[in-house]
Amino acid sequence: MPLCRPKAKMATNKKIYVLDCGGQYCHLIASRLRRHEALSVIVPCDVAIADLHDAAAIVVSGGPQSCFDAESMRVDPQLWALPVPILGICYGCQMMCRDLGGTVEEASVGEYGAATLNVSNGGALLQTAQATTVWMSHRDRVTALPAGFSTTASTDHCPHAAVACEADGKRLYGFQFHPEVTHSEEGGNMLGAFVDLCGLRGTWRMDDFVAEQLAAIKAKCSDGRSVFVLVSGGVDSTVTYALLAKALPADRILGLYVDTGMMRKGESELVEASLGKAGLPNLKCVDASAQFLKALEGLTAPEAKRRAIGQQFLQVQRDMCKELGLDPEKWLLGQGTIYPDTIESGGAAKKAAVIKTHHNRVPEIEALIARGLVLEPLADLYKDEVRAVGERLGLAPHLVWRQPFPGPGLGVRLLCHDGEADDVDMRSKAAEEATKLIHMAGACVTVPPLKSVGCQGDARTYRNFGVICGGYARDWDLLGAAATKIVNESGSLNRVCVSLLHTKAGDAPQFAVAPNGPHTCTSSRFDVLREADAIATAKLTDASLMRKIWQCPVAMAPLTLNGQAGEVIILRPVDSTEAMTASFYRVPFGICDEIATAIKAALPQISDVLFDVTNKPPGTIEWE
Ligand code: XMP
Repeated sequence: MPLCRPKAKMATNKKIYVLDCGGQYCHLIASRLRRHEALSVIVPCDVAIADLHDAAAIVVSGGPQSCFDAESMRVDPQLWALPVPILGICYGCQMMCRDLGGTVEEASVGEYGAATLNVSNGGALLQTAQATTVWMSHRDRVTALPAGFSTTASTDHCPHAAVACEADGKRLYGFQFHPEVTHSEEGGNMLGAFVDLCGLRGTWRMDDFVAEQLAAIKAKCSDGRSVFVLVSGGVDSTVTYALLAKALPADRILGLYVDTGMMRKGESELVEASLGKAGLPNLKCVDASAQFLKALEGLTAPEAKRRAIGQQFLQVQRDMCKELGLDPEKWLLGQGTIYPDTIESGGAAKKAAVIKTHHNRVPEIEALIARGLVLEPLADLYKDEVRAVGERLGLAPHLVWRQPFPGPGLGVRLLCHDGEADDVDMRSKAAEEATKLIHMAGACVTVPPLKSVGCQGDARTYRNFGVICGGYARDWDLLGAAATKIVNESGSLNRVCVSLLHTKAGDAPQFAVAPNGPHTCTSSRFDVLREADAIATAKLTDASLMRKIWQCPVAMAPLTLNGQAGEVIILRPVDSTEAMTASFYRVPFGICDEIATAIKAALPQISDVLFDVTNKPPGTIEWE
């Protein structure tokens, strides 16, 4: 791992081992411990106990599996007897309690997203407010404690949300919630208290990262190889390019900006101009839109689209190598991959669930990685850490602080449909149940025949979504709470939106897949989405909200009303720090109305504008 110190130095250092049970946030735990300047190292959960001899403390991560599954990942039960502080998080907490004689059961409803943690008897780690918001993502839970343990905090759905055993010199702790995500308000302090407990604060510093990476790039290219980087204008690839430009002579790096035809309005011109101004050497631009559109022809499934897009990026790079007469064996592929790209694509060790295959993790690129032909200096960082590196490299604030834009661009925001009929009974039952749950007179929930990707309990879901419409209360907190309730209590929905154009009491639009399917990625559909995105972006910019919103995807779905051709636009503004968790951003209702009215006026084929009120988890930021 690039973030670890060289082996010789590490052997004398005490460190915190993070045992990886395949959770989406395992690596984030290590990152958060580093913020308290403690050296933390990730190891597989079945690591031999003898290999943990220099541990100052141990964290056991969450994971996508259940304790009841015979195949699920396990730690050696001897681990719990080690004389160091041990913290089990989510699945790690369940495994600890079960191994030591407690009981774990599957709850009747899951708990995803925000929950209020009521601290009763804090112990060493919960020196926090008595009630604090934490982020949950689980269904199984501890129902009876092992001997010597006590409950230190609970939530409405989870009686043992935090447990501890501090008797007889033991320092065993378990959290059902995720302290490592920034949406857990006091999570940073809780992990800080854990670092203090083992006395490691100040043993590792982020300042060394740039120097370590420059040395690593030089070492990798010391045999004369050069680096070909795909740049998108986004912060990750720009910082990667700047790092490479600092490490290598100008003639040994080459940057290629690819216009995929799935960029936002004016994006290519903007990126070309700002990268030009940044003074980065040897940058070329290529228009490959026809090639990307062709590769997407006939595809509707999100993962199939993602693969096709990832393969095309590689193809464009190969074609350019040929055109310029470059020897592919002598040119490494440089990528601005960051950690969420890897973990959501199944993780470096393929233990985590695949949530989405990011464009830089398709099988063809994995094959190049296996051959040592890919250079990814930021692969262990999160977005906020990448921004810190960008600032250290002196990049302009507008490049470092741009909203993230995914490599596949609008390709993963243009929802498709294969034309197949779906389970109407399931949808009407889900709609009826959700309507009862929201308790809003004059409003109802409708469930359109389309699915989106979510992330629940560390696993991928692909489910329908609910739309709250009619005379709903214009109160984001109430709507957000209703969305959390609907998803947690329903086994069939993973997202909830509100309708911005059907808001009169009793208005209950029944969405259908537009006729003339299947609906795929066509240039005319991209044009409509591009225009809607431009309108939303302009309105949010005018309202000075673009910098405050962490990311605002605008998506389009082939849904309509009354059997006419048409589309639905979805606004998905989120607040986040590193994209692993997110909460929906509360855009003032007046501005939402302006955006929806302007989109409808400019694009009459739009049958509704929806606003996504789902957090991550259970939703993901992008819809596909
Ligand atoms: P999700 O939708 O998984 O997204 O919550 C997390 C962050 O990752 C971005 N994203 C991607 N970025 N290539 C990228 O470079 C991809 O294939 C990709 N898919 C999602 C997304 O925009 C968000 O910031």
